[in-house]
Amino acid sequence: NLALIGALLLGYLLGSIPFGLILTRMAGLGDVRMIGSGNIGATNVLRTGSKKLAAATLILDALKGTAAVLIAARLGPYAAIAAGLGAFLGHLFPVWLGFKGGKGVATYLGILIGLAWPGALVFAAVWLVTALLTRYSSLAALIASIIVPIALFAKGNQSVALLFALLSVLVMIKHKANIVRLLNGTESRIGSKG
Ligand code: G3P
Repeated sequence: NLALIGALLLGYLLGSIPFGLILTRMAGLGDVRMIGSGNIGATNVLRTGSKKLAAATLILDALKGTAAVLIAARLGPYAAIAAGLGAFLGHLFPVWLGFKGGKGVATYLGILIGLAWPGALVFAAVWLVTALLTRYSSLAALIASIIVPIALFAKGNQSVALLFALLSVLVMIKHKANIVRLLNGTESRIGSKG
């Protein structure tokens, strides 16, 4: 189906824009991949010391997911899902960066806003509570991405729930190094430079 492939590609193109890398470069902060965890996401941009750029990265990485979904939604609900999947894959595996992209948390949230906004409230609430209690961005993302698909299967559209189950598995795979650090007590906390 051409509409689905088009939506997937549009999503991929939007999702593959590495805002964290672009913004930190434009600000003259160098290559964000050389500091902290080496990730291009908002958590690692914060380790450059710039709260503003970290916030901008979070918002833009989320918005590209929302935009992909909302644009493709004109072609129907399955096109919206395909665009969400495309945006997520684009963020995780951008062709422009040799397929080495981010961990997907902000983009996951943005896609969720576009496809099932109540799920986004669940995600944000679980992330915030866990982050406030533990100061681990990665742990907050991991717990939120376990809870969201369960909540969606219980209450939402089953195709959307299935998409987020898949995205959550990818989030966990991408957080492998974080999980190892959480288990051995060396994960850096939000706001610390490590
Ligand atoms: O959004 C990614 C976050 O969960 C972990 O980021 O840089 O600490 O690996 P980082």
